[in-house]
Amino acid sequence: MIDPIEFIHNASSISKKSMNRLKLKSNPFSEKPIRGNTKFFVGRNSELSEIADILGAAQYGSVANAAIVGTKGIGKSSILNILYYAAKRHGHWIVQLEASQVTARQFLIQLMHSIIGDNLFSVDGTLSTNYMEHSKKIIEIYRRLNTYSDKTPVHYPREKIERDLKYLLHNVKEEGKLCVILVDEADQFAKRSCLGLLQFFHSFLYEDDILAFFAGPPTMMEDLTKISPAIRDRIPKVINMPPLDKAEAHDLILRRLEDVHTSGASEYDPFTPESIEKIIEECDGIPRRIIMTCSEAISIGLKNSSTTVDESMVESALKKLGISVGHQILNHLTPAQSKIVRAMADLGGSSTVTELSGVLNNSPGTIGTHLSDIYEMGYVYKERDGYNVYYTLSKELKDVLITEKDN
Ligand SMILES: Nc1ncnc2c1ncn2[C@@H]1O[C@H](COP(=O)(O)OP(=O)(O)OP(=O)(O)O)[C@@H](O)[C@H]1O
Ligand SMILES: [Mg+2]
Repeated sequence: MIDPIEFIHNASSISKKSMNRLKLKSNPFSEKPIRGNTKFFVGRNSELSEIADILGAAQYGSVANAAIVGTKGIGKSSILNILYYAAKRHGHWIVQLEASQVTARQFLIQLMHSIIGDNLFSVDGTLSTNYMEHSKKIIEIYRRLNTYSDKTPVHYPREKIERDLKYLLHNVKEEGKLCVILVDEADQFAKRSCLGLLQFFHSFLYEDDILAFFAGPPTMMEDLTKISPAIRDRIPKVINMPPLDKAEAHDLILRRLEDVHTSGASEYDPFTPESIEKIIEECDGIPRRIIMTCSEAISIGLKNSSTTVDESMVESALKKLGISVGHQILNHLTPAQSKIVRAMADLGGSSTVTELSGVLNNSPGTIGTHLSDIYEMGYVYKERDGYNVYYTLSKELKDVLITEKDN
């Protein structure tokens, strides 16, 4: 019987030697969003200039709130972090919040907390000298927040929060400064019973000195508008985050590798050129996918005591993570459709409706209907050969299904 602590300890001890065998000092592919350290940040030129325009215009009085939208792992939190530091450098008040796990009231309390804690107090916890003249009132508000925050059942009335907020914005904040509010995962507002909060935002987002950025998935604006139609007008700008292009994806990998290379390592070491191409091709320019795949492939290389990371390791990484295009298509199919494409793979990747209906023991009509749905989505090709119509798996599906079978 092996001691479980001992087991985890041993199994998780990656020796420096095996890292060095891969010409790396450490694994540079961390899934955490980029923060102030921007040396790994690539691309996003047009998004950054859109953000700069919005911030610039707001500083001259034309405030337009913005949504930052994109799929999972595209880099929304990272760009919000960068925006945080950029706005901080201008001396604005900044508040960064996540919309998740809060009720409307908690969100407001957290907002007030952040405004006071992040902006009015200095690092050592004393009120910063700029705000001394308002000290009595600020400390009173802060005390009240602490008494009412989180779990206290006592109701901290919305009117009071709003009044305090207005006081801070109109009397305490210096003229010419903005209050920049960065809300991550803002789609949560649409999911919970946040109607009250959205209503609050309606008046609040029209305040002159407030500039808000809401980050969320591509459907966020639609979802928020469904709950509260007027929100659209309050968030007139939408910044779309597309996938990285190939050159940017290469750059992302290269910069992280270069940071941890041991001396004598070159360019993409320990990745072989084919393995890099595979990563770029399969990850669709989504930074998180690229990072997770690289990280997993390096782990596999370590386990194999290998000196390089080759295409087959990347392949295994993709499979383990289930993030290749083929896997995503599979996730997208209904169980019946998935059965059909798997049967096609068993038949070598290409077959007729009749063959499939034989193998699957199902009527040709049913199979045909499913197949034409799959065809409509573009996941299989159709070819006529004399009287027969052959359906063929798309390359992406063939790649995952045939490899799955071989294993
Ligand atoms: N422009 C970029 N350059 C380099 N790395 C990036 C870039 N954008 C994102 N990343 C990396 O990709 C990963 C995902 O980024 P991030 O967490 O910001 O995405 P997200 O859109 O907020 O994801 P989610 O939808 O899960 O909230 C992180 O590891 C981050 O460091
Ligand atoms: Mg995020």
